[in-house]
Amino acid sequence: MPDAALKTAKNEIQAASVVKNKDAQPPIIEVREISKRYGSNVVLDRLNFDVAPGEKIALIGPSGSGKTTILRILMTLETLDEGSIKIEGSPLWQMEVGGRLVKANEAYLHKMRTKVGMVFQLFNLFPHKTVLENVSMAPILTKGIPRAEAEKRAMELLDMVGLAEKAREKPAQLSGGQKQRVAIARALALQPRIMLFDEVTSALDPELVEEVLNILRKLGAETEMTMLLVTHEMGFAHDFADRVLFFDRGRIVEQGPPEQIFTNPREERTQSFLKKIIGAGRAI
Ligand SMILES: Nc1ncnc2c1ncn2[C@@H]1O[C@H](COP(=O)(O)OP(=O)(O)OP(=O)(O)O)[C@@H](O)[C@H]1O
Ligand SMILES: [Mg+2]
Repeated sequence: MPDAALKTAKNEIQAASVVKNKDAQPPIIEVREISKRYGSNVVLDRLNFDVAPGEKIALIGPSGSGKTTILRILMTLETLDEGSIKIEGSPLWQMEVGGRLVKANEAYLHKMRTKVGMVFQLFNLFPHKTVLENVSMAPILTKGIPRAEAEKRAMELLDMVGLAEKAREKPAQLSGGQKQRVAIARALALQPRIMLFDEVTSALDPELVEEVLNILRKLGAETEMTMLLVTHEMGFAHDFADRVLFFDRGRIVEQGPPEQIFTNPREERTQSFLKKIIGAGRAI
């Protein structure tokens, strides 16, 4: 083969392998046959799903369908009864010792927890700390980052959420939307690979919802972060998500790209849920 042709062939093989590697990227989250019960109440029922690195997922579904529970399990705030979860290929509740899987110890769980951050419906900011302290505290305490460095990073994050000028104020001096933006900056300060958002706008006055959704849009568009988000804002879910998971009674009844779920849902339960939401004025 002439040199030039050989070079072209090599380049083609190289290009193909790059594409192949991208496609073959292992999931960042693997959920396998997860069940969770509270007494006789089956809250998650043999749940299975994978999340690709960088994927943006919207979880939708009726009240009590298990959306918060699955996020809390991913945060290790809840245990599971059956099944397994892997984050970046490592089991969440177990660790490998000498080729065997054993119950994870605190140090291992601590390491796993740094991979995942969560923002809740209610902001849970520390009322006696300033905005800057709220954002910089966890990196100082849990990661041992020097104060000056943690504060510099916190200021960058506050700038990103449009609140740099509020750094010295206390949470009580902020609006609900501003508090929620601080809570987002605080979760980001630990630099998680995966961020979970649980109805982060549902406690806000309607006119404050958009400012928080804008931050989420920005994070979605400008970062490679994997994001899982529970929301009742269907228009936002439609525009934001790569994939929508529709939950009902602890199972994923239907999933797919937003276009399919919102305009052409296959399952009767998805159709009736969307009809109700749209009927309540929360249309796309
Ligand atoms: N700590 C708990 N103890 C007992 N039952 C619980 C607990 N936490 C959740 N549940 C039950 O688990 C079920 C699922 O709750 P979950 O909070 O995951 O639902 P959800 O889909 O987030 O609902 P919503 O849209 O109202 O937030 C519900 O029936 C709830 O009552
Ligand atoms: Mg919930």
